[in-house]
Amino acid sequence: MTTINPYLEGNFAPVHQEITTDTLQVIGELPPDLSGIFVRNGANPQWEPIGQYHWFDGDGMLHGVRIHDGKATYRNRYVKTQGCLIEQAEGKPIWSGLMEPPQMDNPRGPYKNTANTNTVWHNGQLLALWEGGAPYAVKLPELETIGEYTYNGKLASAFTAHPKVDPVTGEMMFFGYSPFKPPYLQYSVVSVAGELLRTESIDLPIGVMMHDFAISENYTIFMDLPVTFDSQRVERGEPLILFESERPSRFGILPRHGNNCDVRWFESSACFVPHTLNAYEEESEIVLSGCRMKDSGLLESVQSFDQQEGVYRPLCEWRFHLKTGLAQETILDDVPIEFPRVNEQLLGRKTRYGYTARVANNPILLFDALIKYDFSRGQSETLEFGVGRYGGDIVFVPRPHAKTEDDGWLLTLVHDEGSGISELIVLNAQDVTSGPVAQVLIPQRVPYGFHATWVDEAYFQT
Ligand SMILES: [Fe+2]
Repeated sequence: MTTINPYLEGNFAPVHQEITTDTLQVIGELPPDLSGIFVRNGANPQWEPIGQYHWFDGDGMLHGVRIHDGKATYRNRYVKTQGCLIEQAEGKPIWSGLMEPPQMDNPRGPYKNTANTNTVWHNGQLLALWEGGAPYAVKLPELETIGEYTYNGKLASAFTAHPKVDPVTGEMMFFGYSPFKPPYLQYSVVSVAGELLRTESIDLPIGVMMHDFAISENYTIFMDLPVTFDSQRVERGEPLILFESERPSRFGILPRHGNNCDVRWFESSACFVPHTLNAYEEESEIVLSGCRMKDSGLLESVQSFDQQEGVYRPLCEWRFHLKTGLAQETILDDVPIEFPRVNEQLLGRKTRYGYTARVANNPILLFDALIKYDFSRGQSETLEFGVGRYGGDIVFVPRPHAKTEDDGWLLTLVHDEGSGISELIVLNAQDVTSGPVAQVLIPQRVPYGFHATWVDEAYFQT
């Protein structure tokens, strides 16, 4: 019997048309000083899967909404990775995904680099990212793929989908993890001018899924969490990726330009942290926040669709005391959230506000509201998207010459499952509960996906 995979159905189903639109219909009014492009990456499989499909497997597709002079246009493009082009040339899928045994004897690699997870803007270049391989350079605003980006051949590892750009120095920190053989973790710093300055191997006991990390003003924080890879498990009919609850969570803190010898490890209870909100320094402590899962839920098996374990992922704070070596873990709010973000002009510094998507009470991962946290008051505000309406990754865009941390807009894609219409909503970040100031209607369905980035118009060639 064939099991219907919900991540290939409804608004998770791929679209196959790459379109470019004229000016789009807008409900409300786009702020005249909001000028740039919103780019959202996601999995959009162009073939029937080989074996079981996992949501993380599909080919990368970028959806771009460009806003300028109160008007908006849209285009979507596949990220034309080498794997994508090889499969197009052969007219068939070649790679299976996370749920199948890795193709260790495939000379082109055990997995396809789909570049489907996120994008980052650094040193005048947009990069499409997938944590198992090299980034792909993408031209803005066209969203056309330029090719693999290897820092003049210096790239020595995979490249996380969540690099961190320091808003003050302009440096970009990234890491790459290796599931099956050491070095299991490599850490790199890129200068503001785009030069890959250094890559350091960081010792880990075993390959783990390390999806995100964090930076503070002076430190880099790694999360060695007990979600392990083991290809031999697959041969025994067990999952490739497994949450090992008897292992602790380990958090490694090193000075930004330090190396393996400088890492200080802190232990905490077993968990998985799919995404961090931020980190900062406060007296002798490093403070990290992120959404905490009690296991790796969604990652392990499509068989968990009917379970709720993957839903509960509240915002949690860890405090690592550099003098005592102790770690303290506190749940900040009981509501399940995902895709936490701050005003990235304050990344690595203490922020007053945080913005997240609320996880709907549903076996499939959907986001039914946006939450704005005010940490100084210990309060939050929630904007529900409405019945049958689900959102995604939220981007904060500062207003030009912003006067306060939350002086700007929040942008996210929302899909209405009733009407079938996808839209980009724009909220005043200082007044989220009043609802969107503008809804940009997209004339093609935008499948649910992963992460979004905003690039100011002034930064890319027009
Ligand atoms: Fe992510």
